[in-house]
Amino acid sequence: MKIAEVTALQIFDSRGNPTIEARIKLENGIVGAGLVPSGASTGQFEAHELRDGDPSRLRGKSVFQAIKNVETEIADNIRGMNVSDQAGLDSVLIRLDGTPNKSRLGANAILAVSMAAARATANARAVPLFRSLGEGTLLPLPEIQLIGGGAHANWVIDVQDFMMVANGAESYEQALEMTFEVYHAAGEILEKRGQRFGLADEGGYWPAISSNQEAFEVCLQAIESAGLKPGKEVSLSLDIAASDLFDGERYHFRSEKKSFSREQFVQLMKGWCEDYPIISLEDPFADTDRESWRTLNREIGERVQLIGDDLFVTNPTRIQQGIDEALANAVLIKLNQIGTVTETLDAIRLTQKAGWRPVISARSGETEDAFIAHLAVATNAGQLKVGSFARSERMVKWNEVLRIARDLGSQATFNATAFRR
Ligand code: PGA
Ligand code: ZN
Repeated sequence: MKIAEVTALQIFDSRGNPTIEARIKLENGIVGAGLVPSGASTGQFEAHELRDGDPSRLRGKSVFQAIKNVETEIADNIRGMNVSDQAGLDSVLIRLDGTPNKSRLGANAILAVSMAAARATANARAVPLFRSLGEGTLLPLPEIQLIGGGAHANWVIDVQDFMMVANGAESYEQALEMTFEVYHAAGEILEKRGQRFGLADEGGYWPAISSNQEAFEVCLQAIESAGLKPGKEVSLSLDIAASDLFDGERYHFRSEKKSFSREQFVQLMKGWCEDYPIISLEDPFADTDRESWRTLNREIGERVQLIGDDLFVTNPTRIQQGIDEALANAVLIKLNQIGTVTETLDAIRLTQKAGWRPVISARSGETEDAFIAHLAVATNAGQLKVGSFARSERMVKWNEVLRIARDLGSQATFNATAFRR
């Protein structure tokens, strides 16, 4: 299974911004492709997304240099390698780049090739990607956005994601059915209130409301009007994306025109988890505010899943520090935060070994690639966050899990009981 050709193409993501698709062709003619997503509320410690920065072309967002890097330097160094040696191939890419954050060749260039190699391997073995990536059979519990805010909806409300988790579901299919009911109920409720503005970047509603309080009300009403019990059958999950709210000393809610000291923000997060049926909280604090993370984890970490996204950026070194310091109990996993498939798998394993939970995640700028659906099942991660229940760059992931479930048949497992109260 030797690599014969490595090519790349500039394509466009779900926000219409340029991104990379890489293709690896093997000597036997079999091909695999990798499509790279892109974030908006990116963490400062993420691997580097290389863009051309030429204001006269595609607003500086073109990725022609990254594509050139794939087709010249990267191609020259991996041609002839065995594609199924993912770890060996990824270590060549990392060494070739030579920087700690993949800024020379671009993490987007490197990841596109790394994902293409994984796909080509699966295609050469004539198995679905999840079977070639790992041994897993666990279908993920979906975390699905109802309302979008923050950087994904021009700061109409300050919290980035109001999400639902169908923690009463007995199967993946049932979780999607419950989601369907609640998502459409939320749309109708916003419509009735005259507050349905449109859809945010990840397909959740872009509400014409300005307080987090109102967003909580809409979500709870939606669950009830779908005939489901909040907290028992469907619970709430938030991504605060608080790095975007922190100025180094205080947290700011722009839309509500309020600001909080770090201690006050810890109390606010704790209060929300007491007042509402919240089972998971992502990035409640900035990636530099380790003290608040530690405090909240000590106080509510037994009851509430606390996920580090910007805090850990899928980086095994940062995750290990977080485990040592007991900062959280879960890690958001995004391939393009770290830049290779191997390092992503390492991050997931490290998280699981510590007894923490990995949550496999999409980006706000997505593509039609369903790689992460396979990654979630292959690693028995147990949870998948893809944005909402609308728009095909999101649905392609939820639908791919349905196909995987069909493929696994009676081997498939699903377990939401850990999330029941
Ligand atoms: P991003 O948002 O892709 O814009 O970073 C997703 C998230 O914060 O989880
Ligand atoms: Zn996040």
